Amino acid sequence: MTMKIAILPGDGTGPEVVREALKVLDAVASAESFEFTTEAFDFGGDRYLATGHIIDDADLVNLRENYDVILLGAVGHPDVAPGILEKGLLLRTRFALDQYINLRPVKLYPGVDCPLKDKGPDDICFDVIRENTEDLYCGAGGFLRKHTQQEIATQEMIATRFGVERCLRYSFEFCRAKKQRGEGKGLLTLVHKTNVLTFAADLWWRAFNEIGDADYPDIERDYNHIDAACMWFVKNPEFYDTIVVPNMFGDIITDLGAMIQGGTGIAAGGNINPDAGGTSMYEPIGGSAPKYTGQDVINPLACIGALAMMLQNTRDDDGEPAWRAAGNRVENAIMAVTPKLESLAAGRMGYSTRQVGDLVCEAL
Ligand code: IPM
Ligand code: MN
Repeated sequence: MTMKIAILPGDGTGPEVVREALKVLDAVASAESFEFTTEAFDFGGDRYLATGHIIDDADLVNLRENYDVILLGAVGHPDVAPGILEKGLLLRTRFALDQYINLRPVKLYPGVDCPLKDKGPDDICFDVIRENTEDLYCGAGGFLRKHTQQEIATQEMIATRFGVERCLRYSFEFCRAKKQRGEGKGLLTLVHKTNVLTFAADLWWRAFNEIGDADYPDIERDYNHIDAACMWFVKNPEFYDTIVVPNMFGDIITDLGAMIQGGTGIAAGGNINPDAGGTSMYEPIGGSAPKYTGQDVINPLACIGALAMMLQNTRDDDGEPAWRAAGNRVENAIMAVTPKLESLAAGRMGYSTRQVGDLVCEAL
């Protein structure tokens, strides 16, 4: 099967990091003999400023129906008010394509500076699975008596049994598959706040235990309050294997995760619709870094990591992860390159953006 890839380079340094990822894709596709097509779309700040359109319904239908997967560079433009592109492009696509899983591996690669004392790659190696379509991100809420002294604003935390269950099942399956590949210990940790959020967290907690008892007796279950998880990320990250967490808490702890794995220069994520025919979207989790745009100094490894994740997780028409070996090959090449960089930070790598892309291609 030919993988049909939609490319959304986006804003700022997005196009530069996507260019390097596509260079690596070309190289790994010829090494592993698979076929792909790419088509680029100009969704982002410049198009919005020129046309007033961010992404239209027809564009979303096109992405859903005609592409297997999407690779995104970055979203965020200095001339567009914060939130407009993030909500209009990123969140809209996640919701419209029902990408209900946000998979964020937290892996410290060799030679990468870690801000945690005495922690190395063996200690920081886990996956966070963030629910991606519910919770505080639904936009449920509103104002009453706006702009008065009696103003009330509400923002509701939505948890549906359906949404929670599909996320939990994905997480149990993911954890089991990792264990079967010898990559994890079969431990799934639910992160929430059952001691305060006694409705939403209770639904998660019951579903977690019911599904685990019924269908995943081989997976050990654990639970952390969100605040405690923030402590353990710093103190005992080696404890974690797979974490499942609702959207808002997941947003926050995956930024903490990105920092302990070496920063936004390396952190990648996938917005995944795992259903048959679903279209997923992979992205570096950092922003568009406007001040580094066009200077050939931004670190492309996060985007190359997103490419690796895309290959590892995309399924063919038979539901098989047919490109996993190719994805692992890219990830191994990244691991061969990280020890050579002076730093993962933009402008301090000791190499240019293009040179880092070349190093990964050579290491494949
Ligand atoms: C992320 C980002 C987005 C989010 C923003 C840009 C809307 O922080 O991908 O984590 O909150 O999900
Ligand atoms: Mn975030």
